Amino acid sequence: MLLEVKDLNTYYGESHVLQGISLTVEKGELVCLLGRNGMGKSTTLKSIMGLVKPKSGLINFKGEQILGMPAHKTARVGIGYVPETREIFPNLTVTDNLLLGIKKGKYSKGVGKDWTLERIYEHFPILKTRGSNKGFQLSGGEQQMLTIARTLMGNPELLLIDEPTEGLAPVMVEEVRDVLIEINKAGVSILLVEHNIKVALAMAHRLYLMGKAHVGFEGTPEELAKKPEIKRQYLEV
Ligand SMILES: Nc1ncnc2c1ncn2[C@@H]1O[C@H](COP(=O)(O)OP(=O)(O)OP(=O)(O)O)[C@@H](O)[C@H]1O
Ligand SMILES: [Mg+2]
Repeated sequence: MLLEVKDLNTYYGESHVLQGISLTVEKGELVCLLGRNGMGKSTTLKSIMGLVKPKSGLINFKGEQILGMPAHKTARVGIGYVPETREIFPNLTVTDNLLLGIKKGKYSKGVGKDWTLERIYEHFPILKTRGSNKGFQLSGGEQQMLTIARTLMGNPELLLIDEPTEGLAPVMVEEVRDVLIEINKAGVSILLVEHNIKVALAMAHRLYLMGKAHVGFEGTPEELAKKPEIKRQYLEV
């Protein structure tokens, strides 16, 4: 098991927004977390990353307890986080944005080959043609690609990605989907929050559907396909 989250409870002030979340990601898996607005999907990723501090629970990553670990340390142990807000440096070139993703230190060794500019450009041809463009000159989809690519430069074993296709044109949604499938095939495990059920079903090995503050369904896309009532309960379909 690469990541095991068990009985996670997170609060914002008095508000109990994660009430006993449990989920796992196996090495090599692409797992999707779905659910309606405000159910706690982003908070789940933030809790794993250490951007918000859960009150109780367990988060085990590669055999190490990481609950309560601050985000910069979580990054060092091999977890990459791509937030909903596309965080690029608008006044730096694409290449410089990518180089800033490199992490030094003993944990910088990810799975298989290290990510280099060359390897990134192989997987993201869309960025290659724009290497000397500045961040602000990119389209929303290209900025999303750049955020994912920059995070990969830190050689994470697990990527946490929050709604990467949100607000993108259909062609770009497909590009992002395909790039994530390729990255996963290259050995990077992925826990993905995705709004678009079609995209999620096309990518995921396993899915978790969240209701308010809890996980309501866990299974494969095939298992979910047999349960239309579950889809109706937890998703907008
Ligand atoms: N910083 C915060 N302070 C207080 N409440 C928050 C904060 N962030 C989120 N919340 C609340 O916590 C709950 C879970 O929010 P979260 O962002 O995790 O949901 P989500 O499933 O990612 O929703 P969306 O699909 O809209 O992104 C919501 O009720 C939200 O209003
Ligand atoms: Mg969210």
